[in-house]
Amino acid sequence: MSKGTVEAGLFGKTPDGVEVHVFTLTNSKGVEARIINYGGTVLSLKVPDRNGIMGDVVLGFDNLDDYIKKSPYFGCLVGRFGNRIAGGKFSLNGKSCVLAKNNGENSLHGGLKGFDKVVWAATTKMTADGPALGLNYVSNDGEEGFTGTLSVTAVYTLTEDNALALEFTAVTDKDTVVNLTHHSYFNLACRGDVLDHVVTVNSDTFTPVNVSLIPTGEVKPVGGTPFDFRKPEKIGARINSQDQQIKFGGGYDHNWVLNKPAGKLGLAATVTEPVSGRVMEVLTTEPATQFYTGNFLDGTLTGKGGWVYAKRNGFCFEPQHYPDSPNQPAFPTTVLKPGQTYKNTIIYRFSVRK
Ligand code: GLA
Repeated sequence: MSKGTVEAGLFGKTPDGVEVHVFTLTNSKGVEARIINYGGTVLSLKVPDRNGIMGDVVLGFDNLDDYIKKSPYFGCLVGRFGNRIAGGKFSLNGKSCVLAKNNGENSLHGGLKGFDKVVWAATTKMTADGPALGLNYVSNDGEEGFTGTLSVTAVYTLTEDNALALEFTAVTDKDTVVNLTHHSYFNLACRGDVLDHVVTVNSDTFTPVNVSLIPTGEVKPVGGTPFDFRKPEKIGARINSQDQQIKFGGGYDHNWVLNKPAGKLGLAATVTEPVSGRVMEVLTTEPATQFYTGNFLDGTLTGKGGWVYAKRNGFCFEPQHYPDSPNQPAFPTTVLKPGQTYKNTIIYRFSVRK
């Protein structure tokens, strides 16, 4: 028997009059995720602290209009290609693919209208693991410059062990590149900055970037750098150091290569917030994860409950393939061919430390 509940309601309408629905997934312990089918966006995620007090651990807005007009990728699904593609172009099978540029000269998170800005078809169901929301989107051949019709499914399940699990699958009718991820900004204290959160990343190496955050192609050991999170470290401990990579990112905005076989589910990172006792583990089948510390938040966005989001008020773990893979032959491939099925599992699991 599956436990928990899933309920649906109207959240708003896009400027073209398309209805956007909100789905509330609750497990038997009272953990609750509210997700809309615009961008597959997690609006809120309530998990207990060490005293059992529920708190919303993700940043976001109160209404659809704010998500449409000003969201810095709060809580959304990211695709067709997460993170940057240099110069907004790459070549595939000897043919040049020219993408929409939305980050200076580069393409970021799928382009001008990525998967975060489309309305997905939604279905809900109760599964043996818990309440689930299935989302489907068909990205047309040529959309944002990408070749091939890509049919994507994303399933969120709220499990009894207090995890929000996300499973992607995708198929294409022409060779294309795919890199899907999730972009919640977490704050396990539910307020203030995240500098005292303690992070461990299951990684010995990262991919250094240039000034426009494009990987140089190098895979560098983290040892002796501010990128060494092999042992638990506060986010804030080295975030303002003189390290050139830190300066390029304005903090952490880099890709860590995970110490585990690609395609196998394993631990990417653990984050602990000492005051509330909340712990979040990030698990993935992906070979790497972007770790971003909300460096671009600058106090100009007001979110849920009137919280003015300042620099480093949230952090993101975005499990994925390496940024700019289509232009980096030495990086694990992101090419998807007809007949193959793209698969990617990302799990954010919550617990407490007494
Ligand atoms: C990713 C990128 C960042 C930034 C955020 C959203 O983490 O690497 O540079 O774009 O998404 O603002």
